[in-house]
Amino acid sequence: MLLHLFILSSFLLCCVEFVNAGITSAFIRSEFPSVDIPLDNEVFAVPKGQNAPQQVHITQGDYDGKAVIISWVTPDQPGSSLVQYGLSDGNYASKAKGSFRNYTFGDYKSGFIHQCYLDGLEYDKKYYYKIGEGDAARSFWFQTPPKINPDASYTFGIIGDLGQTYNSLSTLKHYMHSGGQTVLFVGDLSYADRYQYHDVGVRWDSWGRFTEQSTAYQPWIWSAGNHEIEFMPYMGEVIPFKSYLNRYPTPYMASKSSSPLWYAIRRASAHIIVLSSYSPFGN
Ligand SMILES: *[C@@H]1O[C@H](CO)[C@@H](O)[C@H](O)[C@H]1NC(C)=O
Repeated sequence: MLLHLFILSSFLLCCVEFVNAGITSAFIRSEFPSVDIPLDNEVFAVPKGQNAPQQVHITQGDYDGKAVIISWVTPDQPGSSLVQYGLSDGNYASKAKGSFRNYTFGDYKSGFIHQCYLDGLEYDKKYYYKIGEGDAARSFWFQTPPKINPDASYTFGIIGDLGQTYNSLSTLKHYMHSGGQTVLFVGDLSYADRYQYHDVGVRWDSWGRFTEQSTAYQPWIWSAGNHEIEFMPYMGEVIPFKSYLNRYPTPYMASKSSSPLWYAIRRASAHIIVLSSYSPFGN
């Protein structure tokens, strides 16, 4: 992706050498080349409390926006897959029980990755939810979309190629101030494939903690990019999209798809179709 963009931009630059478009945005990147934020930076901080849920993220759970999938990781033990939720803060009238999975990648062993499905939600409401146990419990909220309607007003953000550099941080902060209500994520999440062996999994975990400030509070609609393939035979990993598929569930069955990489949803006034450009990879 990056290489293609580079070739394309070199080509364009050579054609438009004498054109000066001036400054078109108040937002100017300061740091290039971009470097990954070190793991001990506070943006990757592990939440307090024994086995506290981390890397919390939500996505739409059904076809029409009346369900969400909540996902999180507990690092030490499975713990509980229970989500308590409701329409007022601290008073959780409903609960749903999910499930968890874990996987290995090279010599890395993942934490326990929970997924819980909440359905039958009302449109246009703020829901509060709580996960985890005892003093390691954590609470968040999200807003359901308006009923499907061609005139329903709604603001989507589009983010792709996020990674975990200092520029990623400024992009995320910039988005969070934009008023966007749902992210359409167009592939290349963590860039953990820059790493090898144990560190690939470690950088997926750090990315999950980094993005939680947005992903726990509004749905990010996922699609896979080439950086999710992670075909790494030298470390025994040959199943494409393994980390991505274990960590980022999608509501593919609601659109009668047979693969989580391909699906469709409707949300407010939008009909969103997620394609997977790299699906033929391998076989
Ligand atoms: C999942 O976790 C259990 C308990 O720690 C462990 O025994 C098992 O090997 C793990 N499975 C994978 C695929 O990592």
